[in-house]
Amino acid sequence: MPTSMSRNLSGKTVLITGASAGIGRSTAFEFARSSSQNLKLILTARRVERLEEIKKEIANEYGTGVKVHIVKLDVSNPEEIDEFVRALPEEFRGVDILVNNAGFMSGVEQPPDVPRQVIQNVYATNVFGVINMTQAILPIFKARPDGGKGDVIMLGSIASRDPYVGGTIYCSSKAAVAAFTDALRKEMIGTRIRVMTVDPGQVQTEFNLNKFRGDQSKVDESYADRVPLTPDDVAEVIVFAASRNENVVVADTLLFPSYQASATHIHQKI
Ligand SMILES: NC(=O)c1ccc[n+]([C@@H]2O[C@H](COP(=O)([O-])OP(=O)(O)OC[C@H]3O[C@@H](n4cnc5c(N)ncnc54)[C@H](OP(=O)(O)O)[C@@H]3O)[C@@H](O)[C@H]2O)c1
Repeated sequence: MPTSMSRNLSGKTVLITGASAGIGRSTAFEFARSSSQNLKLILTARRVERLEEIKKEIANEYGTGVKVHIVKLDVSNPEEIDEFVRALPEEFRGVDILVNNAGFMSGVEQPPDVPRQVIQNVYATNVFGVINMTQAILPIFKARPDGGKGDVIMLGSIASRDPYVGGTIYCSSKAAVAAFTDALRKEMIGTRIRVMTVDPGQVQTEFNLNKFRGDQSKVDESYADRVPLTPDDVAEVIVFAASRNENVVVADTLLFPSYQASATHIHQKI
């Protein structure tokens, strides 16, 4: 007998941004694992060669049960988003679940020393990318009967709830997405369009490599003697939220590793 998870995901088309690494990559595999008989995945990122690898791995593991369409896409470019949606093959047009995952942080400078390019790039990806992609996909959801149907899942962060020193730009970008998410959820009331956010604390991905601009010693230091969340841990929660019965909205989830209780309340060794 199928689980409610596989039953609810069966036949769905899932679009993931930033699927080439970290949480996005894990989310692709977790969806495939959870509905391996009948699923369509649209995986997007700038590093398309990594998406090719993921597509191969999924094909090896699940055969034709999971169909994968990969697209090179920079979400910070609104024209690319519009073109991406226009060019979706017929088979993948009926997006059911959008996972707005692409995002990053670069540097820990404080105003007035934050490089202008960082301000622009972080907002272009983390804020405008999310808003533009959501606007591009919502018409597909809204075209469904009774006001519409579909899931928007944001990768939020503890950073939106508990902004920290050195994080003015990143934290405010995530706070903008949190407000967008809450307002959109209210606007979609009366439809079957669910708007959800999964907000992790520390997850071990390439995130800190970008944050520390490639300084591996700082990355290692940030995780020393601790067991952070893995991208798979977060992916499980995303897929859980997406696979609830349609009357259930997992609106807001805060996820910490066991050593963390706020953005900065971090136990030294665990
Ligand atoms: N790691 C954490 O501690 C943590 C905590 C809370 C929230 N988050 C959030 O989780 C999400 C995923 O991050 P992660 O930890 O998995 O980091 P990651 O390993 O660095 O992965 C980030 C992904 O985003 C993609 N990306 C970045 N800029 C992009 C752009 N302009 N257009 C398209 N794709 C882009 C990257 O792909 P390409 O480079 O190939 O384009 C990559 O696949 C982010 O929104 C992040 O803010 C992370």
